[in-house]
Amino acid sequence: MKLIMLGAPGAGKGTQAKRIAAKYGIPHISTGDIFRANIKNGTELGKKAQTYMDQGLLVPDELVCDLVVDRIQQSDCEKGYVLDGFPRTIPQAEALTAALEKLGTGIDYAINVEVPDANILNRMGGRRACLGCGATYHVEFNPPKQEGVCDTCGAELVLRDDDKPETVQKRLDVYHEQTQPLIDYYTKAGKLAEVDGTKDMDDVFAAIVDLLGE
Ligand code: AP5
Ligand code: MG
Ligand code: ZN
Repeated sequence: MKLIMLGAPGAGKGTQAKRIAAKYGIPHISTGDIFRANIKNGTELGKKAQTYMDQGLLVPDELVCDLVVDRIQQSDCEKGYVLDGFPRTIPQAEALTAALEKLGTGIDYAINVEVPDANILNRMGGRRACLGCGATYHVEFNPPKQEGVCDTCGAELVLRDDDKPETVQKRLDVYHEQTQPLIDYYTKAGKLAEVDGTKDMDDVFAAIVDLLGE
């Protein structure tokens, strides 16, 4: 099962992708998590990516495409994968389609998690992220068992640098300009599926399972 999660920043792509990965036994591949891990480890890629991410801008396509195309050819991806945060521009989608065609395959669904901007601004201030394992919480909607500590790995939870209100607005603008056109792209390809992301997390997941099958 090869899936793409589409949706605005904070729509719940990561939240749902983790649950999909666990239920269907496929890897969750988040380009945002890959960049954050590189920043934390001080790699060259991390240094390059950080200058864009901190401003709420997209990292250039050439730093992203090869990375993902390599990742999806690793052995744990044989049964499929769920891509979260990629593709994010039309050139990225075209690069993915071309790479998959070369491998004689294609994606099954691009799942668009639809949430209006007003709800998003509310959500982001309450998000807490684990830089250890990539887990995501919300102080109100999905709190950890112990405040400020990751349930899964015990690391400290932080407010992401790009979750400050001014940066969130910039990310939303960038989303509408560069990423939203992908909804049209995958509709034309006959691959788009829509879910209402304003619902409770469990209801959103139930709608996805309805689509994908038990
Ligand atoms: P990335 O990490 O992908 O961030 P994003 O797309 O902005 O999305 P988020 O991770 O902020 O949101 P999400 O949809 O995963 O929501 P979540 O599940 O956490 O990218 C960060 C940066 O990296 C980009 O800005 C860019 O610079 C760069 N980058 C990454 N990929 C790139 C690419 N392909 N090309 C170029 N640049 C790239 O949920 C949000 C919050 O809401 C959480 O607190 C959660 O608990 C809560 N929540 C979730 N669902 C619900 C619900 N149903 N009800 C109530 N609360 C909910
Ligand atoms: Mg995410
Ligand atoms: Zn953790």
